[in-house]
Formats: sequence, C-alpha cells, structure tokens
Amino acid sequence: PALARGYHEKVISHYEQPRNVGSLPKNDVDVGTGLVGAPACGDVMKLQIRVDENGVISDVKFKTFGCGSAIASSSYVTERVKGLSLEEAENITNNEIAKELCLPPVKRHCSMLAEDAIRSAIKNYRSKRATASNPKQAGF
Ligand code: FES
Ligand code: FES
Repeated sequence: PALARGYHEKVISHYEQPRNVGSLPKNDVDVGTGLVGAPACGDVMKLQIRVDENGVISDVKFKTFGCGSAIASSSYVTERVKGLSLEEAENITNNEIAKELCLPPVKRHCSMLAEDAIRSAIKNYRSKRATASNPKQAGF
C-alpha cells in the first residue's frame, strides 16, 4: 500500500499505538534498566524488564525519545521478549527487528538501538542480582 514515505504498515501500527510504553520501578531488585543512545542521531531509548523467579521476562516497559522507527523497534521488541528467558532475549538481533518491521537501510541504526536497549537491560539486571547476592558489595 502507498503509505507515506514508503514505511511499512507494521512500523506505522507500532508507531501510532506503541505497546508497553511506561516505566518499571528501577530500584526493584527484579527489574533491569537499559538506557542507550544512538550516536548517529542522538535518539535515546530506555527499556526495562522485570524477571520472575524462573528467569523469565514477565514485564517490559519502554520510553523512547526518537524517530518513528526507533519507537516502532522498541515497541516491537517489548512484545517479542515478554515470556522469554534472558538467554533467548539476548539472542534477538537488530536484523530480526529491521526485517520484521521492513525498515529501510537508513533506519538500521534505529533497530540497533532496540537491540542495545534489551541487552543493556539484561546486563543491568544481572549486575543487580550479583550485587544483591553478595552483601559485601551491596553498600556500593
Ligand atoms: Fe533523530 Fe531519528 S534522527 S529522530
Ligand atoms: Fe535515530 Fe531512528 S533512532 S533516526
């Protein structure tokens, strides 16, 4: 269909009705927060995951200050990772996101932002858990 500027309708849908917009309490020990920026354009994405006792992502929220493709990429990725283990979520690549949303090559870095954000949230969650289980470090 002849959509404005050739964007795929999946991008438009995620852009107009982004899923899982919002925040999780970042001090909760079962919440990991990823905050990343795209050097190419200065856009910023915050993505948060909550992980249940089985190591499964039970909730995801994001806030993106950026272009339509970045918003669509983060919205897509929040739906994609819910219910996945951390290891599964870590394997999601920007290629998959870009392909799913049919992003044009110039918008590749927008999906890269979503990949970076989910990895950064997982990393943050793991380092919080490591600190929480080691009381000697907890004061830092
Ligand atoms: Fe900043 Fe994409 S260039 S919105
Ligand atoms: Fe920069 Fe999309 S994130 S143009």
